[in-house]
Amino acid sequence: MGRIIAIVNHKGGAGKTTTATYLAETLADNKKKVLLVDLDPLSSLATRYPIESKAPYSLADCMEGRSSLDQCVCPTGTEGMMIALGNHNLIGFEITAMHQEDRESILSRQIDGMKTQYDYVLIDTPSSLGLLTMNALVAADEVLIPIKCDYTIFEGMAELLRTIDDVSNSLNGKLKIAGFLVTHVNPELRSTAVNLKEIRMCYGESVLHTLIPEGEDLRDSFQALADELNSKGQ
Ligand SMILES: Nc1ncnc2c1ncn2[C@@H]1O[C@H](COP(=O)(O)OP(=O)(O)OP(=O)(O)O)[C@@H](O)[C@H]1O
Ligand SMILES: [Mg+2]
Repeated sequence: MGRIIAIVNHKGGAGKTTTATYLAETLADNKKKVLLVDLDPLSSLATRYPIESKAPYSLADCMEGRSSLDQCVCPTGTEGMMIALGNHNLIGFEITAMHQEDRESILSRQIDGMKTQYDYVLIDTPSSLGLLTMNALVAADEVLIPIKCDYTIFEGMAELLRTIDDVSNSLNGKLKIAGFLVTHVNPELRSTAVNLKEIRMCYGESVLHTLIPEGEDLRDSFQALADELNSKGQ
């Protein structure tokens, strides 16, 4: 059965998309079957992958009931890794679905029908705690929270944790925190040690051992993250 991980932090630039893409690619390199769900209306993942056979529908169609999730999935060019692409039409979903019953559970129902096909389903989310992110939290087994290692580390965190708590107490009892992932770590800055100490003091064992450095080639760090998540999931 696939592990469904939502990558969430409504603070912009925390490293959600970088985490979603590198982690998906790393897991696929490790021979896992991976589906990346691109739930950010402003994302540009369509240009990141050399998609030859585009799916007939987008995630906006799926969320608005015009297609199944299956019909939005296409290959990425990386073996074992598939993607369901979103686009700016997802903004419309947040408005049209506002009064719809079960509006937070649409993605969950769609993923339920597909999760046996994958080892991992990773959901990239927008920088808001709106209906799209709620759908990701209701669909997920786990939430991975990237935190940018700078003076804004705790910005918005109370609101995010309260939302996760609310979802796990109401719409999704199985939801748990996979971990806080500290990103943009620059060991040369004096503030880095202070920030890491504060994060660990606040969130303890939930802070992942893997740190994502500031840099260009992040493959080794994301391999370490994949290993850590695998060992925690067993
Ligand atoms: N470890 C890193 N080292 C260097 N640059 C990084 C790193 N992680 C992310 N970036 C860069 O920081 C910017 C923000 O990262 P990313 O898009 O992953 O964040 P996000 O949380 O998805 O943002 P948004 O909320 O806007 O969707 C991007 O330009 C990305 O290339
Ligand atoms: Mg993003």
